[in-house]
Amino acid sequence: MSFPYYPNSAKYNTLGHLELGGYDTVELAERFATPLYVLDEQTIRETAREYKLALDEFYPNNLPIFASKALSLQAVFAILQQEGFGLDVVSAGELYTAQSINFPAHKIYLHGNNKSRAELEMACDLKETRIIIDNFSDLEILKQINKPVSVLIRLTPGVECHTHDYIKTGQFDSKFGFDPQHLELALEEIKQNSNIKLLGLHAHIGSQIFETTPFEDTARILLKKYQEIKQKHGLELEELNLGGGIGIHYTLQDDPPAIRTVIKGLTNTIKSLLAEFNLKEPKLIVEPGRSLVGRAGVTLYKLGASKQIPQGKSYLSVDGGMADNPRPITYQAKYSAQLANRLVSEKDKLQNFTIAGRYCESGDILIESLQLPENTNKQDLLAVFGTGAYNYAMSSNYNRVPKPAMVLVGGGEAEIVLQRETLEDLLRNDVLPSRLLKASLEHKEAIH
Ligand SMILES: Cc1ncc(COP(=O)(O)O)c(C=O)c1O
Repeated sequence: MSFPYYPNSAKYNTLGHLELGGYDTVELAERFATPLYVLDEQTIRETAREYKLALDEFYPNNLPIFASKALSLQAVFAILQQEGFGLDVVSAGELYTAQSINFPAHKIYLHGNNKSRAELEMACDLKETRIIIDNFSDLEILKQINKPVSVLIRLTPGVECHTHDYIKTGQFDSKFGFDPQHLELALEEIKQNSNIKLLGLHAHIGSQIFETTPFEDTARILLKKYQEIKQKHGLELEELNLGGGIGIHYTLQDDPPAIRTVIKGLTNTIKSLLAEFNLKEPKLIVEPGRSLVGRAGVTLYKLGASKQIPQGKSYLSVDGGMADNPRPITYQAKYSAQLANRLVSEKDKLQNFTIAGRYCESGDILIESLQLPENTNKQDLLAVFGTGAYNYAMSSNYNRVPKPAMVLVGGGEAEIVLQRETLEDLLRNDVLPSRLLKASLEHKEAIH
């Protein structure tokens, strides 16, 4: 039996253990300890190919780029580079990670609503890296840097989509991008600076989107601007970047569209708009993050303490929680989970459990209500699905707990792509001024 939130390689083996990429997760947990992020290479590659095949079939002039904020790791960048993807980066750190594996500079796009001068300089120095101008501050700094650079302008299209408020970005009052009323002013500024070359417009309307029409509405709004820019400035823009946002299955209640369906609908709309507005075909860029890596990730946790509230909830605590997966506490994200060390059968009597994290916040609840065998206990291993995107990427050291390791399963290997942090790692940047060290040593001597 398979569920839509499973990674592509997931199955239960004859021991009743969950297997990922051909590896028994019980063995992975023993070998690498828990909590453990497991990343399924097959899912990433097959999803990347779904994007690429659909784009190549319906709109060959394309470049899909990975929104690396979803999971910034050298191994992931390397896989997606092999699959023909570019990269969307939003910080010097993500850009540095890309550089560390020699990611082709012309396939990197730098985003951000408050880029520093250092970040913009770093991108300009890579020469072919594109910059998505988010506001007048970006423009002002680029003028000061005064080096040749190719840019796109991010616009807030005023398209609403049905997702959580924190991950909506297309509405007019968003902190991201230019209001359409200010576009003309930005165009004039760019025109006056011969070092800044405008390639196109960009919009990203939000994340975990299940509908297809908001993407098509965004394409219409942007291409209408392309027509106006052509008429007013005689400029035919070369690129059209429509952002990311396609949702995934976290639970059975989620109903994301197939990638091919979105791409087919979107490119059909684009093609008819190009004809309607009499425009040349720009290169189409899409920026998926969650839909590329989300379902590839599974987090393995050991179950620990339990607590039964009289006539109330049954809590089961895991050895991780909000620091390795902040999405439930941040925006009430829902997850699916199963025992990794035993396949539940019809004979098992099931009970509702609340899966609690180990961190010191009452809100650190990973799953509010999960059906598990009533005899579930400390010997069991829990697999939480769909943790590839915005989990490690948003993780923290809250409560001074070291961050988990990540193992990539694929190609017949299970390899560490992220080392587990150690207690020493936690002190690496922690500086005790010498006067305080002296005082604490004196205090220690005094007690002895
Ligand atoms: C500009 C931009 N592009 C792409 C993405 C990726 O979105 P998703 O992970 O939903 O595909 C984001 C996510 O926040 C974004 O801000």
